[in-house]
Amino acid sequence: MYDRYGACDVLRIEDVPIPLPAAGQVRVKIAATSANLSDWESLRGSPAYARIGGLRRPARRTLGSDIAGVVDEVGPGVTRFRRGDEVYGDNLALKGGFAEYALAPVSALADKPAGLTFAEASTIPQAGAIALQGIRTAVAGSRVLINGAGGGSGSFAIQLSAQLGAHVTGVDNAAKQEFMRTMGAHDVIDFGRVDFTRTAPPYDLILDLVARRSVFAYRRALAAGGRYRCVGGSVGTLLRVLTAGSVVGRLSGRSMGVLAVKQGPAHFEALADLCVAGRVKIHIDRVFALDEVSAALAHVGEGRALGKVVVAVT
Ligand SMILES: NC(=O)c1ccc[n+]([C@@H]2O[C@H](COP(=O)([O-])OP(=O)(O)OC[C@H]3O[C@@H](n4cnc5c(N)ncnc54)[C@H](OP(=O)(O)O)[C@@H]3O)[C@@H](O)[C@H]2O)c1
Repeated sequence: MYDRYGACDVLRIEDVPIPLPAAGQVRVKIAATSANLSDWESLRGSPAYARIGGLRRPARRTLGSDIAGVVDEVGPGVTRFRRGDEVYGDNLALKGGFAEYALAPVSALADKPAGLTFAEASTIPQAGAIALQGIRTAVAGSRVLINGAGGGSGSFAIQLSAQLGAHVTGVDNAAKQEFMRTMGAHDVIDFGRVDFTRTAPPYDLILDLVARRSVFAYRRALAAGGRYRCVGGSVGTLLRVLTAGSVVGRLSGRSMGVLAVKQGPAHFEALADLCVAGRVKIHIDRVFALDEVSAALAHVGEGRALGKVVVAVT
């Protein structure tokens, strides 16, 4: 739990009453919760969008949105799930997954496929929704670049776009170059050494997980008719992409914008199916215990994680 934004030392372990589900909610006995960059951002309160709903103090005192576990109580009016159902989903609105029990709205959850472990299932909802929507326009022969490709969403996005027949370039730090290749990237770029917006030829689709450049740099990296979409990064960059970027894109025959990722099972279950079928690999870099949440978040936030990181609760 935490009461103020800050570094890992603001987190503490606390015993609290087991919560009761309200109407439309279920209580999930958590088996595993994956750590996302959004958890790290919510811990630190930075970038500023991480403070939406809680400008001065965190709105949710327990982090952890990508949950997997067993329904152990249902709230009034809930018929979609019963006690004992194995579920998973992105509980972004309520969070609370780094705990033994979490409340979640029914709309956030799906039945966990029998072919996935709880740990595997917990890696899919948020990163999967970003990856599926981010590479939606990739087609055979197109040139796709994924910036920040060595993390959770990126490792799925590389595989999905390569399977569609695109030529995939992954950008991340030096330690993640080989990993991106094992996920299926045809080319890899170390952002510490090469600025991808200055390398030719340009790209048909850029999915940017960590946007920090000018709209003119992104425009330069796009082929005619190309599309740039960012999902995270500095607030200044996101605002500039939303405003100047859409104008610059339109005037130059390109499309530039921020991807507002749609949430819910309809937006991640397709990836789970591919994982069950063995067509997409889930790479879990490390599994941490519940009393190691700080270390799990730091592993993601400080750029050491290859693919996904999971906190195993039970
Ligand atoms: N738009 C929406 O609706 C929506 C919804 C959910 C989440 N998000 C956001 O999406 C973002 C991405 O989340 P994620 O879970 O995919 O993150 P992730 O798995 O941590 O991946 C980000 C990757 O980017 C790398 N990176 C950091 N700085 C970089 C740079 N300058 N150039 C290239 N790569 C860099 C990171 O490694 P190093 O740190 O080692 O460099 C990491 O491998 C988050 O900001 C999250 O808040 C947006």
